[in-house]
Amino acid sequence: MNLRAPSSSPAGISASSHTNETKKLLILVGSPRREGNSATLASAVKLGAEEAGAEVELRFVDDHISSFLRDCRTCRRADGECDIQDRFRELFYEAFLPADGVVFCSPVYWYGLSAQMKAFFDRTFCYYAASHPDSEKALRGMSGKRIGLVLASEETYPGASLGIVHQIQEYSRYTHSEFVGVVRGAGNRRGEVAADPGGPLEQAERLGREFFGRKYTDYRLDTPRSGKVWGV
Ligand SMILES: Cc1cc2nc3c(=O)[nH]c(=O)nc-3n(C[C@H](O)[C@H](O)[C@H](O)COP(=O)(O)O)c2cc1C
Repeated sequence: MNLRAPSSSPAGISASSHTNETKKLLILVGSPRREGNSATLASAVKLGAEEAGAEVELRFVDDHISSFLRDCRTCRRADGECDIQDRFRELFYEAFLPADGVVFCSPVYWYGLSAQMKAFFDRTFCYYAASHPDSEKALRGMSGKRIGLVLASEETYPGASLGIVHQIQEYSRYTHSEFVGVVRGAGNRRGEVAADPGGPLEQAERLGREFFGRKYTDYRLDTPRSGKVWGV
């Protein structure tokens, strides 16, 4: 797959940390609960990102997706467009592709992402597959973003979210993106995550505030580096 080069330099200094250009952040919520814990955490990310001057859009996957990915051979139209009648296309072209960064906010369902959120990733296939007339645009827009992950779960043990973290890490690697942070809050009833003594709302707000400026490194054996992380 031919994807754009990552935005970080070999030394791991993100291009986004030294530019004043307004960054676009998409916050995508994968829970059906509008006042749920993922949505509560997403609002905190939004607050922080807006404080830092980003242009932020918060959308619920439920408003855009009403079908799983199908077999493109049976539902791709003659002109190459996807024939699934929902608002995924709008989400993908108007919000996802133009975004410099995306924060995926999902409840933990069965130790994985919610089906809504997983369907978001699967449905991108309709547009980046070579059989779509504008697949090059999709490939370019999908690559080189900053990525964040925000999770709400009932359980507190670290292992409950490892599968999801791994999936998003692989997604980021595959798309030459920078996976800059994870926040997880525990709660079950709507908004209960605010009572988590670990302070996930504060962490989420901080993730939003630092999203485009946070130092990101992912070295290889031959990566030039000074040996210092913070320059002190
Ligand atoms: C179908 C389903 C599966 C769930 N699976 C898990 C799970 O595997 N581990 C866990 O800690 N919580 C699990 N939960 C609890 C939710 O993660 C938790 O209630 C979360 O706060 C919901 O987030 P929301 O308010 O954004 O929907 C599950 C809830 C549902 C409805």
